[in-house]
Amino acid sequence: MIHAVIFDLDGVIVDTAHYHFVAWQRLANELGITFTEKENERLKGVSRMHSLEIILEIGGVVLSEAKKEELATRKNSWFVEYIEAIRPEEIFKGVKQMLISLREKGFKVALASSSKNAETVLRLLEIKGLFDTVVDGTMIIKSKPDPEIFLLAANKIGVDPSECVVFEDAEAGVEAALAAGMKCVGVGSADQLGKAHSIVKTTADFPIDQLNLL
Ligand code: BG6
Ligand code: MG
Repeated sequence: MIHAVIFDLDGVIVDTAHYHFVAWQRLANELGITFTEKENERLKGVSRMHSLEIILEIGGVVLSEAKKEELATRKNSWFVEYIEAIRPEEIFKGVKQMLISLREKGFKVALASSSKNAETVLRLLEIKGLFDTVVDGTMIIKSKPDPEIFLLAANKIGVDPSECVVFEDAEAGVEAALAAGMKCVGVGSADQLGKAHSIVKTTADFPIDQLNLL
């Protein structure tokens, strides 16, 4: 029986994944590295520093730790600037109602995002109160595809991993959910998310009365 639903944030609840891409592309341009949306798929779900390292690897660029810290901070300041204008209307269609309905039906609802900006985004969207627990990039050591974040979320809400369903738009996130022993709904395309138990175009396309059929 499924007792909990765990949501990723960027790309599952709101289109902040796009702002991450725009900020990384801006940085890549400055470094003279060509960085496309296809390559951006590898960054989804992974930590800020690991994302930078993937871009540097694509460009064949080697930098000192201090320089990498400086660049990661610069990218984040752009991202924070881009998301300042986010409003509750930007939550993907049907997702807010989905969160409300899940809790009405007795499911525990958690958020598990690798982002250290998750609290800010939830505040701007005015939906923090709809989650029983929030786990973000400030609380974990290993980011997705490691299962740590999902196991921590399950532990916080007191539900066994086998009784959780994860909604994820990142390949690394699907891998993390499976490694945690959870069911996973992929949000996006089968090209990246083929390992998920089910794939939908957008989060609220998944009918919650089918959670136990995954
Ligand atoms: C994830 C995003 O949610 O958070 C990644 O999918 C991002 O693209 C990661 O790199 C870390 O985010 P932040 O806000 O801590 O830089
Ligand atoms: Mg995501």
